[in-house]
Amino acid sequence: MTETAPSRRLYIKTYGCQMNVYDSERMADVLRPLGYALTDEAEGADLVVLNTCHIREKATEKVYSELGQIKRMKARKEAAGGAMTVAVAGCVAQAEGAEIMARQPAVDLVVGPQAYHRLPELIARAHRASGERLAADFTADEKFDALPGERAPTGVTAFLTVQEGCDKFCTFCVVPYTRGAEYSRPAEAVLAEAEQLAAHGVREVTLLGQNVNAYAGEGGLAGLVRRLAQVPGLDRIRYTTSHPHDMDEALIAAHGEVEALMPYLHLPVQAGSDRVLRAMNRAHTAESYLRLVEKIRAARPDIAMSGDFIVGFPGESERDFEATLQLVSEIRYASAFSFKYSRRPGTPAAAMPGQVPDEVKDERLARLQALLSQQQVAFNDATVGRTVPVLLEKPGRHPGQVVGRSPYLQAVHLDAPESLIGEIRAVDILAASRGSLAGALSPSPRLEPA
Ligand code: SAH
Ligand code: SF4
Ligand code: F3S
Repeated sequence: MTETAPSRRLYIKTYGCQMNVYDSERMADVLRPLGYALTDEAEGADLVVLNTCHIREKATEKVYSELGQIKRMKARKEAAGGAMTVAVAGCVAQAEGAEIMARQPAVDLVVGPQAYHRLPELIARAHRASGERLAADFTADEKFDALPGERAPTGVTAFLTVQEGCDKFCTFCVVPYTRGAEYSRPAEAVLAEAEQLAAHGVREVTLLGQNVNAYAGEGGLAGLVRRLAQVPGLDRIRYTTSHPHDMDEALIAAHGEVEALMPYLHLPVQAGSDRVLRAMNRAHTAESYLRLVEKIRAARPDIAMSGDFIVGFPGESERDFEATLQLVSEIRYASAFSFKYSRRPGTPAAAMPGQVPDEVKDERLARLQALLSQQQVAFNDATVGRTVPVLLEKPGRHPGQVVGRSPYLQAVHLDAPESLIGEIRAVDILAASRGSLAGALSPSPRLEPA
């Protein structure tokens, strides 16, 4: 007698960073053998998972408002004689699991980022309407060992988590509390997963970690990158997010030497005033960051720099803020993310004096974003007229169009047959806007070195 797993509909909504995107994929992998197939609609799903983010207050609020809607869908399904299991995963689950259960009775279970391998068990328990609704403990090694070996990547690019957690304790940030201590996966496990991805047609991996360049497996991140560059079929390697403090000589050298390592680096600085950086517990100064970027550019002159910024950290004066603008002017970023400081309960900065009024934060954010956006336009404009290798990733919005990425992580739109998806082609860049480039397949396949 053969038994096929019943088909159940699984809806996962992902908030926050790429590590959550990776985790959502792995949750789908864990649940697939139980008969759960992904759907892109929450309405009518058998299992709804919200994979949440706690980084700023707004991110957390979104989860509670989404849960309100899910609750009504669950009621509709039950009225029709069906059932919907609702799970909250991710960093809000880790940080306020008990509160979620209390505030929203429609939630059947809460599962923290290190406990996804236990999802099948938690779901079974929830179905028996008994006991354990809360699993939020820290054992990252157990998590990776227990997740199923098989991944089912759906595109030509994939995320691969190599490191989790954070020991840096920046005073504004919840991550050390929601993701636990730094943990690095063994290089062998990462290689095995990368080989599997490549065998499924993945050509580019982005190595993930809250502090990915603190990767402490054999050979450090530079060693890992060099080994991954040997995996047949993997032509492009990226990594994110890096802390300036962990940007070592070996990794800088790899940027000059490893062809597969793409010339793009997300290296958050947060602020340009040393006084603010000290209060943030960032372990770098504006000057040390500038020198570091100089070194990186000496190894790889064309590298696209990216960063994160916080405006309105407690005590930030107008002069402090101007130091951030000054630093940005000196670096010339290709892209960046900037945020208003959000007060997170339990973090040291939440209790600091000199909280900055919201109007001031708004005004500073607008000025910073105007400058960053100017720099992004300038960076993209400088690509026009060049021929760059583009990894063709997926169909574009218009018929006959495909979208890919340049080595500098710019989105590139061009007319090309869909059969070319998955290939790296020379593309003449014809025009640029702030968010993307337009190009055409180059008649001559010869590439300038990228
Ligand atoms: N580990 C990464 C990023 C973690 S969170 C790193 O250190 O770079 C992503 C970004 O969110 C941070 O870089 C920071 O700019 C922003 N962020 C974190 N906590 C914040 C807070 N309380 N308010 C506003 N922005 C915050
Ligand atoms: Fe948060 Fe700082 Fe750790 Fe990044 S390095 S995750 S900002 S504590
Ligand atoms: Fe958010 Fe957690 Fe990532 S708080 S940014 S989902 S590590």
